[in-house]
Amino acid sequence: MGRTLTAIILAAGKGTRMKSTRAKVLHRVGGRPILRYVLDAVRGVDPNEILVVVGDRADDVRAELAEDAVRTVEQKRQLGTGHAVFQARGIAAGETLLIVPGDLPLLTAAVLETFLAYHARERAALSVLSMVLPNPGGYGRVLRDTKGSPTRIVEARDATAEESVICEVNSAIYCVSNDAFLWETLSMLKTANAQREYYLPDLVERFRSARRKVAAVAVDDPRRVLGINSRAELARAERVLREEKVEELMASGVTVLDPERTYVEPTVAVGQDTVLLPGTHLVGNTRIGEDCTIGPDTWVEDSTVEEGCRVRYSVLESAKVRPRSKVGPYAHLRPGADVGPEVRIGNFVEVKASRVRRGAKAGHLAYLGDAEVGEEANIGAGVITCNLGYHGKTKHRTKIGDRAFIGSNASLIAPVTVGEDAVVGAGSTIAEEVPAGTLAIGRSRQVIKKKKEARE
Ligand code: UD1
Ligand code: CA
Repeated sequence: MGRTLTAIILAAGKGTRMKSTRAKVLHRVGGRPILRYVLDAVRGVDPNEILVVVGDRADDVRAELAEDAVRTVEQKRQLGTGHAVFQARGIAAGETLLIVPGDLPLLTAAVLETFLAYHARERAALSVLSMVLPNPGGYGRVLRDTKGSPTRIVEARDATAEESVICEVNSAIYCVSNDAFLWETLSMLKTANAQREYYLPDLVERFRSARRKVAAVAVDDPRRVLGINSRAELARAERVLREEKVEELMASGVTVLDPERTYVEPTVAVGQDTVLLPGTHLVGNTRIGEDCTIGPDTWVEDSTVEEGCRVRYSVLESAKVRPRSKVGPYAHLRPGADVGPEVRIGNFVEVKASRVRRGAKAGHLAYLGDAEVGEEANIGAGVITCNLGYHGKTKHRTKIGDRAFIGSNASLIAPVTVGEDAVVGAGSTIAEEVPAGTLAIGRSRQVIKKKKEARE
């Protein structure tokens, strides 16, 4: 049987370099808070318990974790990573502790799995996951003796010129035995460093002085342990996630014309033989079917687009588009829009909380809100549904029957029904039912006068 494992996620830091009023670990990458990715990775190795150290904007971080099976521990003052782990004294119960910073959005369970196996194999008291970077930047440098054993980690700000050129750096992921020695050592850390903080990496030197085995191993793919401390690093993580998602889509049979200009969040699914044109953003809980063409310059959020659709220069939010429909250019489908199949929503048409059935057409400049539009109905240019009686409660509905024809610039004032095969004359204001098969004209009659008379 393996040893019991407690994962400790450090999420209390101030994130000063983000220059933000928001907690660092709640900044989003690929549409989700950074902390979510860390949690997913940690859960993937199945620890017996997960502790999250919170501090800076603790309430916000706790709120994010409200639904998660984790325990939070508060670090009231952010005195450093060593001090953060110390808050788990007497709480962390596993025989082994896996310590992970909360700011690594590209981390995966596979990385942690490999590292845990390494720690067990080395029989070390403390293991450090490192990485080798051509430009080690602000990361802590891992120093080793002539035999290759780690001796010390020195923070970039405390490093001498010779130490600064070392390319093996600390990922801030550690495995350590949960015993009295650990807690005692943590309690004895000093703040004699550039940041006046209790540094967790100082454990390396202290464990070594006490002749406890310390091991360090470099991760295969350093991208997985990219830490987010600044907006520039946030953008870098975003880019990596985007590249990986687009690669994955292309490998599964999606054509992406310009991967650099296509933004697909990790949560999105796209069907085979669909083409994504530049400037396409697929966001949140979005599903795109097979054989669609999406873009250019289109935003699809929390929406479903079924097979064979074409969506150009448009914005879709919590909408559904059924098979073989055409949307855009410049259409806006708002929450509750459910259009198709074989529908055409054209230039400058807005649809909200409306069901538009098979084969209906709204080609230009229309607003359809809180409406039912029947099969093959035709909505002319400039048609709008109105809700004059709206006082913030339930909205009245406009019902347009199958094959009805609504002439240009008609206003339909809800609640109102236009029956099947009915015709509404252009420019009409319709506030009463139009029975099936009839023609309704609701506009003032045209008057012709001589110009002279008109002046009188
Ligand atoms: C840390 C390491 C550095 C390593 C780098 C890798 C230290 C001193 N340095 O530096 O060696 O190369 O990570 O990304 O550990 N935190 C708390 N409480 C605190 C301070 C920090 O919970 O008082 C949390 C932060 O929320 C963050 C994590 O610990 O999630 C790391 O802190 P951060 O300030 O980002 O450390 P780095 O400067 O990146
Ligand atoms: Ca960091």
